[in-house]
Amino acid sequence: MKKIIALALVVIFSLFALVACNGTEDVSDAENADTTVDTSADVVETPTLKMATNAAFPPYEYKEGEAFVGIDVEIATAIAAELGCTLEIVDMEFDSIITSVKQNETDFGMAGMTVTDERKEEVDFTLSYATGVQSVIVGANSEIASIDDLAGKKIGVQLGTTGDIYASGDYGEENVTKYGKGADAVIALKGGDVDAVIIDNEPAKAFVAENEGLKILDTEYAVEDYAIAVNKGNTELLNKINTALEKLTADGTIDGIIAKYIKAE
Ligand code: ARG
Repeated sequence: MKKIIALALVVIFSLFALVACNGTEDVSDAENADTTVDTSADVVETPTLKMATNAAFPPYEYKEGEAFVGIDVEIATAIAAELGCTLEIVDMEFDSIITSVKQNETDFGMAGMTVTDERKEEVDFTLSYATGVQSVIVGANSEIASIDDLAGKKIGVQLGTTGDIYASGDYGEENVTKYGKGADAVIALKGGDVDAVIIDNEPAKAFVAENEGLKILDTEYAVEDYAIAVNKGNTELLNKINTALEKLTADGTIDGIIAKYIKAE
């Protein structure tokens, strides 16, 4: 019996923490709450909002030493602050993010993630906060000059990304090599293991800047919207993130963050 009470209390307190974090705790509830809950609420540390990401995708999320940085990291930090939470970043394979959100291991996924109809069947997406473009990276002297030249070539992608999905559909699975990280696909391109890499334009620019002898084709393979994924039916969190995104857009915070990482050409 004691165990059950303890368990019930844990459940109640963690619900309380979540509610406080999401900012729904209204005054009347706080007043009506009995002393036991009140006291424990004082003990609860600042609640955390867990973000699933794949921090190998500059300038959206990457690591500088041990620190997570990038556009998504800063926007998520601002959203968490709006919601009265601290942000905890959980770094994982890109391919695992949706599962992690679906299983409630994390509260949301944010990883330069493109909104697609297939993903919409698995998770709910917030408003879009950025645009992405699928780009093609090739060797500086490559004979590949346009998207059409990719037929029959070996293409490298990051596993589970839209670059992977489109390339596999358009050019055949047998021509597509899937890497855990975009940077590994770029290393394979430099080493001649693949002829081209399909990846989002901003990471493409970052990888080309870091590696000599590569260029980005002047063709846009696909234009996409990035948004934050939450568990299906978690409308409370979805609405709160959307409200925060609207505020952070209106007051220029998001533009400021993007401008800090993406210099106008
Ligand atoms: N925008 C692409 C997608 O949604 C690639 C995102 C990869 N993000 C990352 N953090 N590795 O599939």
